[in-house]
Amino acid sequence: MLVTGIEILSKAHKEGYGVGAFNFVNFEMLRTIFEAADVAQSPLIVQASEGAIKYLGMDMVLSMVYTMSKRHSHIPVALHLDHGTSFESCKRAVDAGFTSVMIDASHHPFKENLELTKEVVDYAHSKGVSVEAELGRLMGIEDNVSVDEKDAVLVNPNEAEEFVKVSQVDYLAPAIGTSHGAFKFKGEPKLDFDRLVEVKKRTNIPLVLHGASSIPESVRQTFLSTGGDLKGGKGVPFDFIEQSIKGGINKINIDTDLRLAFIGQVRKMANDHPSEFDLRKYFTPGMEAVKAVIVERMHVLGSAGKI
Ligand code: G3H
Ligand code: 13P
Ligand code: ZN
Repeated sequence: MLVTGIEILSKAHKEGYGVGAFNFVNFEMLRTIFEAADVAQSPLIVQASEGAIKYLGMDMVLSMVYTMSKRHSHIPVALHLDHGTSFESCKRAVDAGFTSVMIDASHHPFKENLELTKEVVDYAHSKGVSVEAELGRLMGIEDNVSVDEKDAVLVNPNEAEEFVKVSQVDYLAPAIGTSHGAFKFKGEPKLDFDRLVEVKKRTNIPLVLHGASSIPESVRQTFLSTGGDLKGGKGVPFDFIEQSIKGGINKINIDTDLRLAFIGQVRKMANDHPSEFDLRKYFTPGMEAVKAVIVERMHVLGSAGKI
């Protein structure tokens, strides 16, 4: 059942759990994400980036998601635009049938970010669609950075309060030290949980953690043992994810873990069966590995059994 993002996230915010927002770029990934939610009996957010929409075509994104949500009609699912870069991009997603959009104007100065976010909120809300925005820059923080350096990069709680009040955005992604991809931290993982708690206190809305992949050991091992190179990549440990949820995070964005899990199995198949060229023989183990990652994560997030 396709529902708005805020419907899923306001329940998570009230009850104090996290909902995974999983990126997809093809049918195999989308189908696997839905099947995992079915196994875990979890609410779900599926998200497509502008790049994913370009790759699949907007019509294909919508028809695949509608088909899968019909197939799993008891799972509440929101279709979300990940990192929308302009009003036009968000409007296009709203008009096409997305139930949630992100306007990512976090690289602009505060005032411009606020104005653009408000413009998107006004349009999306008039069509019953929820909106996410971002404050601060997504990048890792090192152990010995000064308070000034952190303030320059991470979310400012005063600004977050004003931003939410004026824009009426439904959920906010505060930068607290995560970054996208497989190389999140130079030294030990570190997030600014105090800042997160302060933002939650000032805004009291669902908060979003971008760059939340964990790179579980089994995924790392398969990827490395089949010839992959992760150059010391590091994810967000599960206990950090749990602490983030305690601090007020309710939407947890995960893409890298799914990519690594899928490609590790494809690589394994290619190594173990060099004469195999039936696509399905490659994709099936990939999908199984991704499903296991998602089901485990839904338990970590606390969304399992919440439908
Ligand atoms: O945060 C970005 C997501 O991982 C999507 O990435 O732009 O390569 O589709 P993409
Ligand atoms: P990861 O790269 O950690 O999976 O983060 C994905 C993300 O934030 C998508 O918006
Ligand atoms: Zn992101």
